[in-house]
Amino acid sequence: MSLKLGSLTTIIISTPETAKIVLQTHDLAFSSRTIPTAAQSLDHDKFSMAWLPVETQWRKLRKISREQMFSVPRLDASQGLRKDKLQKLCEYVNQCCEMGRAVDIGRAAFTTSLNLMSATLFSVEFAQYNSDSSQEMRDVVWGVMKGIGSPNLADYFPVLKRIDPQGILRETTVCFEKLFAIFDRIIDDKLKSSRGEKSDLLEALIHLHQRDELSRNDINHLLLDLFVAGTDTTSGTMEWAMTELLRNPEKLSRVENEITYIIGENKQVQESDIPRLPYLQAVVKETFRLHPAAPFLVPHKANVDVEINGYIVPKNAQVLVNVWASGRLWNMAECGRRICPGLPLAYRMVHLMLATLVGNFGWELEENVKPQELDMNEMFGLTLQKAIPLKAVPTKLCRT
Ligand code: HEM
Repeated sequence: MSLKLGSLTTIIISTPETAKIVLQTHDLAFSSRTIPTAAQSLDHDKFSMAWLPVETQWRKLRKISREQMFSVPRLDASQGLRKDKLQKLCEYVNQCCEMGRAVDIGRAAFTTSLNLMSATLFSVEFAQYNSDSSQEMRDVVWGVMKGIGSPNLADYFPVLKRIDPQGILRETTVCFEKLFAIFDRIIDDKLKSSRGEKSDLLEALIHLHQRDELSRNDINHLLLDLFVAGTDTTSGTMEWAMTELLRNPEKLSRVENEITYIIGENKQVQESDIPRLPYLQAVVKETFRLHPAAPFLVPHKANVDVEINGYIVPKNAQVLVNVWASGRLWNMAECGRRICPGLPLAYRMVHLMLATLVGNFGWELEENVKPQELDMNEMFGLTLQKAIPLKAVPTKLCRT
């Protein structure tokens, strides 16, 4: 489908076969991004892995993240930190259990994702379950997603860019400034206490900074990308997974039974256990299929005229791959150069969080809510979230 939105030609790809042509066969020709005005806040697009073209600086940032953060040895080295954060989730749900209180699953999942990410990135705990700081951070991350994902007149009529008629650039800039202020504080603390270690991503980045290979600005923009791309996608996927399980109680029991049977009664699931839990993996895959966190991916752009199925996609056209509508398992491993670099970490976080919630507690919907009546409406930023928060009551004590 081709849409002419103001001066922007947009091509929507809605079948898996055509998506494969865009993301594999002509991967390089479609590897650039159209850049929404919101992503230009504080010149983010000039420094960001998510928006830079596939050229030298983009390659450098992908290489740094792959080697310093997402490689198997790096992820294995930081798994103890993540285990500790999952234990805190367990303790929080246990408290709710004792008080007979419902858990806001999206909110708890966001706090956990935030802490898992900050543990992996800079060995710091970010937020407490019962405080407002996590909700504030959630609002900031959602503010960025909404700013970048919302239709913005300035993107279709460039003359309006300077006026920013909907105030989207101004709002996104405020969110960016808040995140940069947090990162600056963490970087300053690290610099003060640094003994030259490279035990987490930030220490490795500081090391590169001291060798003049990365500026502080580069570090801030990279952290922003990783934080924004990694928290709300992970927690959103978790909330949808729990929603689907609570709508299908027999499937919830199957996950619970698989964990009890394979892992054992009084043991916590470890990251290395995931390959032994095929039903849990199937639930996560099905959640990705039904509720893809980025339903149009991040906008791609044609670098040259490309012919697809007899049609010409003109140079500079925006290309949105409608993963949501293709309605079948989109094997993300099939994507080309722009494939999500965070998937190895997301894979561990989503499975472990889900196993922690389902393996340690029974779950029921609040009184008067029937599984088949659960609200399934979606809310779109750049990512797709559940419009009405899922609340569920934990019913078993934590095994620990
Ligand atoms: C459930 C979790 C996640 C899902 C479903 C997901 C999905 C995606 C998708 C669909 C894209 C766009 C691919 C494209 O445009 O072709 C993407 C890009 C990206 N993701 Fe993820 N992601 C997840 C978690 C993470 C995590 C944990 C991180 C980092 C810690 C991360 C960092 C990024 C970055 C930096 C990009 C931009 C890459 C580039 O343009 O070169 N993501 N992700």
